[in-house]
Formats: sequence, structure tokens, C-alpha cells
Amino acid sequence: MTLREPRILQDRAYVNGEWIAADDDATFPVRNPYTGAVIASVPDLGAAAAERAVAAAAAAFPAWRDRTAGERATIMRKWFDLLLAHQDDLAALMTAEQGKPLTESRGEVAYGASFIEWFAEEGRRAYGDVIPTHRSGTRILAIRQPVGVVAAITPWNFPIAMITRKVAPALAVGCTVVVKPAEDTPLCALALAYLAQEAGIPPGVLNVVTTNRPAEVGGVLTHDPRIRKLSFTGSTPTGKELMKQASGTLKRLSLELGGNAPFIVFDDAEVEGAVAGAMASKYRNGGQTCVCANRIFVQAGIYDKFVAAFSRAIAELRVGDGAASGTDIGPLINTAALEKVERMVQDAVDKGAELALGGRRSPAGELIYEPTLLLGADASMDIAHEEVFGPVAPVFRFTTEEEVIAQANDTPYGLAAYFYGRDHARIWRVAEALEYGMVGINTGMISTAVAPFGGVKESGFGREGSRYGIEDFLTIKYLCWDGIGAP
Ligand code: SIN
Repeated sequence: MTLREPRILQDRAYVNGEWIAADDDATFPVRNPYTGAVIASVPDLGAAAAERAVAAAAAAFPAWRDRTAGERATIMRKWFDLLLAHQDDLAALMTAEQGKPLTESRGEVAYGASFIEWFAEEGRRAYGDVIPTHRSGTRILAIRQPVGVVAAITPWNFPIAMITRKVAPALAVGCTVVVKPAEDTPLCALALAYLAQEAGIPPGVLNVVTTNRPAEVGGVLTHDPRIRKLSFTGSTPTGKELMKQASGTLKRLSLELGGNAPFIVFDDAEVEGAVAGAMASKYRNGGQTCVCANRIFVQAGIYDKFVAAFSRAIAELRVGDGAASGTDIGPLINTAALEKVERMVQDAVDKGAELALGGRRSPAGELIYEPTLLLGADASMDIAHEEVFGPVAPVFRFTTEEEVIAQANDTPYGLAAYFYGRDHARIWRVAEALEYGMVGINTGMISTAVAPFGGVKESGFGREGSRYGIEDFLTIKYLCWDGIGAP
């Protein structure tokens, strides 16, 4: 990996505006999932360093809160500009530590930067209300204030965008933040911190605690009373555990957890569009997103046409090194992920699914799994109930709208759902009937900074992106002001 700006690659944690090592100098390696080579070693911070990061964020909070939204927006705008100015370097770093193809990494840098731009502007609009009074001589106001110090625990699948989606609204309204990035992808988080420093974000306002001891550092972030809000993206079991831990100090929570997205193709769908949507939703990031189509339901009348076109599109995917041009699917993040995909495909085949494409490790790389198409999937299979988080598309055949709605909703998860069809009355009915936080209608791509991203049921709560995403970092204070006079 050659970087135009070598300082994009930082190998120290970032606390209170300083680049620090662990107290005991411990480090852990960050590996390229395609080559297996160590890219860098970063500090393995423990509880004491995490507490210092919280203290720094708490100390920086009053001054950052007291700046005007416009002053904060100006600094954030510089941060946004710097991300785009270093888009190629950031993308190269992301592909090196995460494995996704370079075109997707470049796209993620722009997607991640868009949260900074959008929230910098939206921070100026954190309006309050003047409420008609209940008593003569009194005035009633509701003002919005920042919640305080925020902890952000972020995943490896979008190592930039999942940080900016939390940090940008927090900073825009005056909160300060401690980020704990995923152990697999700390380098993108440190690059973001480097650019934040360059942009003039003051010491302590943004801190990045790298660690290979997530439970120890997570324990500090969930128990420390100075942290008033925790925002987490990751698995449902971890989210439940964090929620338990955070209950001791009643922190505000945003939890963006697992999904099990249905992707429904009705008989009247336009086949080409449905296939393009299924490819985009299923194979983005090699199938490693919480909103990836996990169950593809196809109505009997269009089944053969859809499966033939879908199968042709999957067969054209090129696997390999994300850094090589033309690669569509890179490696999975680690061996545990690969083994999970293998186990789920084997379970489906054992229970009667037909392996139409793929179904094995690829010779193109140690952590690469071939794009896979499973036909004849049914509810007895693990893949109907659990996210596969890999490039595997199971297709289920259905006949009626009622039947497919019941199957789509038969899951504890409720993050994203998708469907394709043209009948307007049915579009409205199905959109309302799906028990999901987000529904893509005739599209497989729903992610954008301007829309509220989030789930229901065991996919969590809270919204990220859009004006709703800023609410999660604000608290309402009611002012009752007496002695003013009439009316
Ligand atoms: C995720 O996988 O958690 C987020 C995906 C996205 O923002 O599109």
C-alpha cells in the first residue's frame, strides 16, 4: 500500500489531542485479510487509558458545547473537505485492513464524509420551542442541549462510515466523543482522528481508544457515569450485553444491531431491476452488511426468469484482492467469519437446498468464499433465521402475498426489508405490513446520510442519519419562566 500522505497511517491511539502508546507498551497487529500480512501494530489500551480518554472528553465538553453551532460547523466542514482530499489514501487503507474492493472503499469514504457535511449543517437547526403558556405571567420554553460525553463502539464492516454516522451528529450539537473501533479495523479510525486534528477539532473532543480487550474497555464505557450516551453498531447479543451494563448509569442508548433482511420479488416485478437490486443488496461488501438481503423470496410466476438472470449475474462476479482492479468480492474479514459461512451453507445443503453456484472456499485467497446461490431454501434452515454475513444468496419460492409477509416477519430481527413489484395498492400494503425499520421499494440500496437508518424488534432502536439522527444526541430541557406579566 503506497500512500500519498504517509501520516494517514497512524499507529498510536488518540487521546486528548495526543498520540499515545499503551501504559505497558502492549500492541496488537492489524492484518490485511487478503494477504495475511501485518499492516501495522496499534496500542492495546486497557481500562486506565480508557478512563483517561473519558476524562479528556468530559473536560473538553463545556468549551465545545459553548461554541456556536456555526463555529463547530466550520471546523467540521474542514474535516469533511480533508476526507475527500484524502479519499484515495483512505480507500487504500480501508481495502488493506478490511478487504473490500477499492471502488467500494472509495464509495465508503464519500458516504462517511457525507455524514460530516450533513450533520455540520443540521447542527445549526437544533431548534427549541416556545410553547403557549398555561398560566398568565408565565412563559414556557423547550430548549435542546447536547447529551454530554458520548461513547461510540463501532464495527469493522464500514470502518469509516459507521464512525462518522455517530461522531458527526454528536460533535455538531456540542457533544464530545470516545470511539472504540473494532479490533480488525482500527487504522481507518486513527486516520479519521488524524484528519480531525488537522481540521482543528480541539483536544479531547474526539478520542480514539484502540484495544484488543473489548470487554475491558467496553466495561469502562458502559459503567463510567461521565458518559451520558452509548451508540453501538454490531451484533444483537453484544448490544443486549451493553444495554445491561449501561443500565447501571441509565445511559441514553442507540443500538444498530443484526438484521435478517427479506428481499421479495413479486410476479409483476421488472426482472432486470430486481436482479440488479438483489445483486447490490446481497453482494455489497461481500455480503458483510447488516442490511444485506439474507432471504430472497421469489413468487412462483417469475421464479424461473428471476433465478436464471440472478444466477448469470452472480457467475460474473470476480473474486480476489480488493486492491486489484476489477475485483467485485474480496476476502471475508477473518477465519471465524469464513467458518460461519461454511457452516450455514452446509446446514442448508444438508436440509435439502440445491447448490446452484459456489458453496466452497475460493482458490483466489485464503479468506475468500465463492459467491454462492442456494435454491429451494426453506424455514428449516439456519440461513432463514440467522444473518449469513457472507456472499451467499438463498432463494425461497412463494405463492401468495399473505404467505410471504408472514415468512418475512417470522424473525426477531427488523432492520431492513426490500421488495420489487408494480401494483401500487400492493406496494402500499406490503410496505406497511413489513415489520422493519427500513423498506426498500424497487431498490436494493437504501443507505444515505439524509434518511433515518435503524431498526425495530431485536435489530435495536435509535436512528442514524437525517434530522432524526441528531435527536439521539440531544436532550430537551423545559424552562418555566414566571413573573413576566400578561398575557
Ligand atoms: C451496516 O451494515 O451496519 C450499515 C450499512 C449501511 O450503512 O449501509
